[in-house]
Amino acid sequence: MSKLFVYYTNSGNGEVVSKRVRELGADLRRVQPKKDLPKSFLGKMLSGGFQASVKYKAKLDNFDFDISQYDEIIIGSPIWNGRISSPINSVLGALDLTEKKVTFILYSASGKADKSVQRISKEYPSARVIVLKEPKKYGDELEKIDI
Ligand SMILES: Cc1cc2nc3c(=O)[nH]c(=O)nc-3n(C[C@H](O)[C@H](O)[C@H](O)COP(=O)(O)O)c2cc1C
Repeated sequence: MSKLFVYYTNSGNGEVVSKRVRELGADLRRVQPKKDLPKSFLGKMLSGGFQASVKYKAKLDNFDFDISQYDEIIIGSPIWNGRISSPINSVLGALDLTEKKVTFILYSASGKADKSVQRISKEYPSARVIVLKEPKKYGDELEKIDI
């Protein structure tokens, strides 16, 4: 099975996940929004929290949406305000995942993402969802990635 990991990271947790997923045989495609979150903590929380709450689709910089050569798509997103991040909203809006095996890897501060998992399961009933707690800090969390 050919696998592609499509991911976004703002503060590096997604990057740590991508290295592990690469070791497990997936190709990588990192999503970069044209305008990333502000640098300050408060700015990040206000801007990212708002964007996620309204399901905003961030404009992406040079993203290649051709996934035809892959059987499995793994989507990596930080949790923002209990939701998927805005750059990944754009990816999900643009990709046709109906014929693909789909796995989500979500990274969050709490290691929980119950609301997001519920929403994802509604929209993608056959997708697997793996939730990690700050994998940059807690390396053991990467062992949950069984793709
Ligand atoms: C705007 C914003 C909102 C967040 N909201 C949550 C949240 O609701 N629950 C949670 O557990 N972590 C939350 N976090 C923490 C991130 O999900 C967590 O640090 C994640 O690992 C970041 O991934 P990254 O380093 O790849 O960007 C939030 C972070 C940001 C920037």
